[in-house]
Amino acid sequence: MGGLSGLLSQIFQGIRQVKAYGMEGHEEKRAGKAIDKVRSLNVKAVRVSNMTTPVNEVLIGLILMGVIIYGGTQAAAGTMTPGQLGAFLAAFIMAYEPMKKLSRLTSGLQMGLGAASRVFEMMDIVPAIASVDGAQVLSTRTPEITFENVEFQYEEADIKALKNINFTAKSGSVTALVGPSGGGKSTIINLIPRFYDALAGSIRIDGVDIRHYTLASLRGHIALVSQDITIFDESVAENIAYSRPGASFEEIEAAAKALLPMISSVRCRRGMTRFWAKTA
Ligand SMILES: Nc1ncnc2c1ncn2[C@@H]1O[C@H](COP(=O)(O)OP(=O)(O)OP(=O)(O)O)[C@@H](O)[C@H]1O
Ligand SMILES: [Mg+2]
Repeated sequence: MGGLSGLLSQIFQGIRQVKAYGMEGHEEKRAGKAIDKVRSLNVKAVRVSNMTTPVNEVLIGLILMGVIIYGGTQAAAGTMTPGQLGAFLAAFIMAYEPMKKLSRLTSGLQMGLGAASRVFEMMDIVPAIASVDGAQVLSTRTPEITFENVEFQYEEADIKALKNINFTAKSGSVTALVGPSGGGKSTIINLIPRFYDALAGSIRIDGVDIRHYTLASLRGHIALVSQDITIFDESVAENIAYSRPGASFEEIEAAAKALLPMISSVRCRRGMTRFWAKTA
């Protein structure tokens, strides 16, 4: 089920690519295969769980028979009263239903354990990017961002995405990175909130390497509008206040007004590939 839902969400996320490249048939086949697998596993689970019922019934019948034979001879010999035997049989029959339910528990438990192991696997992953011990809290209203000889390579790539990146984004000014598609603009931006760490060189804010700031305070100073925009299924106000739950209406309104000039400049330049980094 985990595999199937992962596959489906991937297909739906990339539905434009699927349609643009005419891959509907291919994806249908892939999803069909996964659905078939889930179905055959379900049939197997149902078969096993339904097999336990008749097996249990037969076993319980045999036990009951044994109890009656043994209890009967004991009662006939006078070592047990018929009342004691009757009480035992009544208790045994009352315990029968719960015991049957208990045997059915395993299949549900197995399914849950399968899902849980995947969740725990995720929870056990130690984030590669974390605050270092003794990291300081970034607190600035006039940050200056400096890149010095920064290099970066994506894990799965053969060549470096960034080499020899040197620039300073001064406080109080707008810095625009302009370049061809695939030039590395988004990669540079992604290094500032430490979505990735640089391979070499240093990125400093107010002269201090960003790795020496706590992650929370670093990211708390950044407003990110990426080229892959996600609007959450909530109110517009909640989307604006996304990083500050509990922001007042006045604050939300002020943020919306402050964004307006940026939005209009993005609109009138649509078609160019570039990224804005606006420092306070
Ligand atoms: N997650 C990733 N894994 C591997 N390689 C990547 C990844 N993201 C980007 N790249 C590669 O890194 C290089 C720089 O990409 P980047 O997205 O930074 O360019 P960009 O300047 O933002 O382009 P665009 O103008 O199209 O947005 C490209 O060669 C790209 O293929
Ligand atoms: Mg980009």
